[in-house]
Amino acid sequence: MAAGFFVTGTDTGIGKTTVSCALLHAFAAQGKKVVGMKPIAAGSENGKWLDVEQLLAASNVNITRQQINPYAFDPPISPHLAAQQAGTEIDLAVIHQAYLELSKQAEIVIVEGVGGFLVPFSQHQTGADLARILDLPVILVVGMRLGCLNHALLTAQAIRTAGLTLVGWVANCIDPQMLVLAQNIATLKQRLDCPLLGVLPFDSKMNAQKGAEFLDVARLGNFR
Ligand SMILES: Nc1ncnc2c1ncn2[C@@H]1O[C@H](COP(=O)(O)OP(=O)(O)O)[C@@H](O)[C@H]1O
Ligand SMILES: [Mg+2]
Repeated sequence: MAAGFFVTGTDTGIGKTTVSCALLHAFAAQGKKVVGMKPIAAGSENGKWLDVEQLLAASNVNITRQQINPYAFDPPISPHLAAQQAGTEIDLAVIHQAYLELSKQAEIVIVEGVGGFLVPFSQHQTGADLARILDLPVILVVGMRLGCLNHALLTAQAIRTAGLTLVGWVANCIDPQMLVLAQNIATLKQRLDCPLLGVLPFDSKMNAQKGAEFLDVARLGNFR
């Protein structure tokens, strides 16, 4: 059975995929069999879902798109609305089963969440229910920009409320103009009760390989 991590973020478009791929790369560099999962993708381009393509490229086991991405919707909208438009419902049991299958094939499974932690999946369920059913330790990606302190602390609180453990966070510098960046990182270091796994600098050519250089996955401790 693999060790799994659930990667959530302070928002959509703040670097969850980038950091998930960097984590996969870092574990693969240790010789591990790794796979990335995107349970729900919303927003296709030319019949492809970029997150799924990136996670697949960063995985080193032989798996299909369907296996790592049970639900894919064309419009870039909230999963509950996308599912409604498609006349379907997101079944967390289907995702859980897909996760269990992947975890038989790899040593590390990185599950990228959708949007922010509490994004609705249906009338009654949110991303927190997905994290709970998978019951994985959570890694929080903070997109470093104005407003991120509140978003990071709210997300950490929601993770705790869901009964899950925040095992690490990553500062992803998505705003090259951000003022007092170091002080913002220090503020979160002091207030988020988990290790900082790394700080990814702003780099318009950021990718999994480069990102991995800035991450110390050993700070996740012994997770087996
Ligand atoms: N450290 C960084 N520096 C520059 N651009 C970044 C960085 N991290 C992510 N990006 C870019 O920001 C965009 C959103 O990142 P992505 O990982 O797809 O976010 P999410 O998965 O949270 O939606 C992408 O175009 C990505 O290349
Ligand atoms: Mg993504």
